[in-house]
Amino acid sequence: MSFTRIVGTGSALPRRCVTNEQLAAELATRGIETSDAWIGERTGIRQRYLAEPDESSSTLAIAAARKALEAAGREPGDIDLIVLATSTPDMIFPSTACIVQAALGIKGGPAFDVQAVCSGFVYGLATADALIRTGTYKRALVIGAEVFSRILDWNDRTTCVLFGDGAGAVVLEAAEAPGVRATRLHADGSYAKILCTAGGVSNGAVTGDPFLRMEGQAVFKLAVGVLEQNARELLDMAGLTADQLDWTIPHQANLRILHATAKRLGLPLDKLIVTVDKHGNTSAASVPLALDVAVRDGRIKPGHNVLLQGVGGGFTWGGAIVSF
Ligand code: UT7
Repeated sequence: MSFTRIVGTGSALPRRCVTNEQLAAELATRGIETSDAWIGERTGIRQRYLAEPDESSSTLAIAAARKALEAAGREPGDIDLIVLATSTPDMIFPSTACIVQAALGIKGGPAFDVQAVCSGFVYGLATADALIRTGTYKRALVIGAEVFSRILDWNDRTTCVLFGDGAGAVVLEAAEAPGVRATRLHADGSYAKILCTAGGVSNGAVTGDPFLRMEGQAVFKLAVGVLEQNARELLDMAGLTADQLDWTIPHQANLRILHATAKRLGLPLDKLIVTVDKHGNTSAASVPLALDVAVRDGRIKPGHNVLLQGVGGGFTWGGAIVSF
């Protein structure tokens, strides 16, 4: 059985950065009250990037994928598998993965979307890892890309201040040694209603409520519990102890969730990669975006063990331990 390694990372953000102050001022013009203080204290978010009309999940994904390929020293033609995680695809079909494949000039290998909301990237990573380890494919682009700004109710202050847009990508390839040391995914669909965008598509038109709805406190409690359990099972699978982790990159939804999980695992806060302050919650893009930031600023170095974890709508959760 072969292994897989992440050999390059990349990310992309929309052009427009919106600070909490700017967002609060914009919302105030419509009689919606919020503040930098509330958002900062309750979530750790200070700013987010919001897509302009000409930006979409595919445009962000393409830019992130190009950077990951460059970092890996690979050409688009070297890729024989594309797995793209998104809940905000450009179209119902074809998949955003196929749009990215065409834009990069890649042909032949499979390209498909994974829909696991904020766990989407780790679902995609686990899927690509398994497909490469069987020997079927050699080199994958795994991408998380979202434009959640398009499914937010901008009149609902309990959700619209939390999310941002962006994309992150990795090149994953077959290797003699790990690389990806463990992956484990979970879902419990009975929690669907605490975080959902319930609108459906009927005859090509959206029916019902097209916006994201969330019971914030229920999601918060569930998230902290499952992130801890998942981290412990991944450490067991990888044969590591928590103190052998160099970095942990949980889904970037709320700084308080990140801190609570680190505390439960006995991890010092300086092992947490935090980007929620700069990006907001970018759903499936949050983990690969944070990973790319920490690789490029030199925190993640060759030989480091990194815990990557997602949690979100579905309810879904899961993670991976990856050696760089
Ligand atoms: O990506 C998937 C994973 N998602 C998450 O992990 C999100 C998990 N949940 C959370 O991060 C937090 O629950 C929130 C950030 C969503 C909310 O924080 P909270 O500390 O649970 O606040 P709360 O919902 O208990 O609301 C406290 C107060 C309420 O007012 P009252 O009832 O106490 O008078 C809200 O109406 O804060 C009010 N509030 C706001 N005030 C100013 C809610 N949103 C805002 C706002 N600005 N934007």
